[in-house]
Amino acid sequence: MTIRTKIVGTGSFVPEKVLTNFDLEKMIDTSDEWITTRTGIKERHICRDGENNSDLAINAAKAALDMANIDPKELDLIIVGTLTPDMPMPSVACLVQHALGAKKAGAMDISATCSGFLYSLSVADKFVRCNPEAKILVIGSEVLSRRTNWQDRTTCVLFADGAGAAVVTGTQGEEGIVSTHLHADGSVWELLTIRGLGTAHPVDQSILDKGWQYIEMQGRDVFKHAVKALESVAFEALEASGWKMEDLDLLIAHQANIRILEHLRERLALPKDKVFINIHKYGNTSAASIPIALDEANRQGRLKPGDKVLMISFGGGFTWAGVTMRW
Ligand code: UT7
Repeated sequence: MTIRTKIVGTGSFVPEKVLTNFDLEKMIDTSDEWITTRTGIKERHICRDGENNSDLAINAAKAALDMANIDPKELDLIIVGTLTPDMPMPSVACLVQHALGAKKAGAMDISATCSGFLYSLSVADKFVRCNPEAKILVIGSEVLSRRTNWQDRTTCVLFADGAGAAVVTGTQGEEGIVSTHLHADGSVWELLTIRGLGTAHPVDQSILDKGWQYIEMQGRDVFKHAVKALESVAFEALEASGWKMEDLDLLIAHQANIRILEHLRERLALPKDKVFINIHKYGNTSAASIPIALDEANRQGRLKPGDKVLMISFGGGFTWAGVTMRW
């Protein structure tokens, strides 16, 4: 008897405030044309003052719990993938646990940048396979706008805010997670980093003067690593699941750049309608990008029972991951 981890509810939430490419044209030396053709992004959502990561996470969680028809008090564990927590301590997961009144749930954050949601989902999967009754809330939530240098046109047009969530539990049916694949390569960490405000470089004027509180990215190098890693983990996950590419019903990949998504679609020989794309509306929301896309695909009716779904991510660290599941 195989125990599988099944997603029983999804939810997402983005801040109300929208920043379009035309707004950015007024702030920095850029153009809607450059951003659209080089990235696929048209607009993104940005937190207003006082709106925090945990607020987004709580709203996404409530939507997922509603869909799952599960009371927060039934939750055993809350995992939040994030690189932009409200504060170093406590975790976002603890703030969510308190706000939801999830009295018996353990709570932790996982730091795996843009792979944060798939890393968290993989941990939840192992937990559920040991305890099929467990009900786990898995969230990806980010406020990247507060780690973005709004003078740096090479990064500020890309990153944005949002949260997505999924509730998982055990099943003996055919549906659920089939395989999970986690990877990392810390040797090239400097290609995508926020150097400052950790314990290596605590708050001090010299750190702020250098802009080390912000995301730094060697875009072209990251692009090359991303396409290679995403393609490789896609094939690895399919092979482990015993699936052929043509069996796949939907690919949900991290929304970092439309050109990465198109490159992947060509390399994997997938038709357009099998690759989920929403980067034009949200930009790159790091750990939130896959659960937001998953929730949209779910609510748009693009996931039918039994569908074969592949999710893949890539981000700073580097980290990359793949998860296959039958819907
Ligand atoms: O989520 C984690 C994973 N992240 C990623 O996967 C991101 C991967 N990288 C990328 O998506 C792309 O490399 C970027 C979108 C970041 C950049 O696109 P690119 O085609 O690699 O551009 P580039 O960095 O090679 O820059 C080309 C030109 C440069 O001008 P010169 O040197 O050729 O005169 C840049 O200064 O475009 C210029 N540029 C801009 N121009 C207008 C860079 N940013 C902008 C901008 N507006 N916002």
